[in-house]
Amino acid sequence: MDPLSRRQVLEILGVAAGAATIPASPVRAQTFVLPAPPARPYSPPERPVTCVIIGHGGRGSTYSGFALQIPQEWKVVGVAEPLDYRRDACVAAHGIAKENVFTSWEHVFERPKLADVAVITTQDAMHLAPALAALDRGYDLLLEKPIAQSWEECRRIYRKVRTTGAIVAVCHVLRYAPYYVQLRHVVASGLIGDVVSVQHLEPIGDVHMSHSYVRGPWRNKAESTPMILSKSCHDLDVLRWWVGRPCTRVSAFGGLAKFRAAQAPAGAPPFCLDGCPEEATCHYHAARVYVREKLFSAHHVVTPDRSPEGILAALRRGPFGRCVYRCDNDAPDHMVTNLEFEGGTTAAFSIEGCVSYQGRRTRVLGTKGDIVGDERAMEVTLFEGGRTTWDVTQAADDLGGHGGGDVRMVRDLVQAVSQRRQDLIPTTLQASLESHLMGFLAEESRVAGGAVRTVTLDL
Ligand SMILES: NC(=O)c1ccc[n+]([C@@H]2O[C@H](COP(=O)([O-])OP(=O)(O)OC[C@H]3O[C@@H](n4cnc5c(N)ncnc54)[C@H](O)[C@@H]3O)[C@@H](O)[C@H]2O)c1
Repeated sequence: MDPLSRRQVLEILGVAAGAATIPASPVRAQTFVLPAPPARPYSPPERPVTCVIIGHGGRGSTYSGFALQIPQEWKVVGVAEPLDYRRDACVAAHGIAKENVFTSWEHVFERPKLADVAVITTQDAMHLAPALAALDRGYDLLLEKPIAQSWEECRRIYRKVRTTGAIVAVCHVLRYAPYYVQLRHVVASGLIGDVVSVQHLEPIGDVHMSHSYVRGPWRNKAESTPMILSKSCHDLDVLRWWVGRPCTRVSAFGGLAKFRAAQAPAGAPPFCLDGCPEEATCHYHAARVYVREKLFSAHHVVTPDRSPEGILAALRRGPFGRCVYRCDNDAPDHMVTNLEFEGGTTAAFSIEGCVSYQGRRTRVLGTKGDIVGDERAMEVTLFEGGRTTWDVTQAADDLGGHGGGDVRMVRDLVQAVSQRRQDLIPTTLQASLESHLMGFLAEESRVAGGAVRTVTLDL
């Protein structure tokens, strides 16, 4: 459907622009219909697109799982995973032939190409090497974000892709989720005029913060990536997408306020299960989080024994059993980033770890109106009249996995690979590199105490 003009909107309301009935109130509480994003064309592939999963952990098993949901489109024919129980689960679910089962990614690429797509779902520090090896072997890629650990590594992948012509989708899944697609479409339709500024908040939730960015795989940027990438390359990506123009400058502040040694309760041992005196009161005590109240998924607690006893045993000396005030974490628990875009649009983006709730909140402020959204619903208000709310649950089904983004991304990749059309993928390497550069520079700025960094995309 084409974007609606203000006149059309008013006609839908049965109110002619400039009619004498306009009330004195600055905003008329009338409902209008938001312009709907165009349906994406879909052609069933002649045969399922095949993939080999590199790292069958949380993300790898999400993407392999879609092969059971859409078997005529997506098929798992190989897996590389060092942990027996994760590898075996993949083999059993997809009936993978013995010769296509590997304990590490290197072995996959010693063999002739065995699938259309290599799904790179290893941890952040293990994207570069398997991605380059897969490209050398002629694979297309489903590449988890962040692309790689440094800007230079990201560029190496980009340059390699240019030589092989591979189709690549970076897993910036929000761009496929119906709520985000709708918000972007309202902005792009011009309904709220030109975008003047955006306020965007990523409230991680304190327990999620403690799990992923204090105890977990993304706690420390030397072993992973800076938090503005590991958590929020998604946010930078959608900000760039919504604004629709390149980012020109960034600056950032932030650090660790709570999850550090100075905040540890007196007498707290390095591991919770070593008799912490605060067991009854500490919100983050490992037994409480992962066993008693199951406040957060225990997926990353590596153990094939998922019983309470099995998880407790893994917590005793494992990373998730550590006192949250005594970890080797350097991911900030609060970070504010200011961004300036071509044409002068500004954005203020906050990542918050000391917060009781989750779910991104966004305010887009335009010359003719504004949008207030919370990942599920949005309210659009036009200054000259009209206000409407839109709820994703009434507009789309299948909203699991990043608001429905995960499965829609895989289906777009299937389309692109089967038709050899990179343009069917919204999250190309090039588009994703732009927001990654914003992230690397924001981290550089934060470390330098907020110094302004100019964004120049030099690929
Ligand atoms: N798109 C998103 O929204 C999103 C969400 C979460 C995580 N991620 C990203 O996805 C990636 C994977 O995250 P995850 O939570 O699934 O991690 P994970 O730790 O659950 O999975 C990684 C898997 O890789 C395996 N592995 C380790 N060494 C290997 C090797 N040599 N060869 C093959 N496999 C090996 C591990 O055993 C593990 O099972 C990360 O880069 C993460 O930042 C993206």
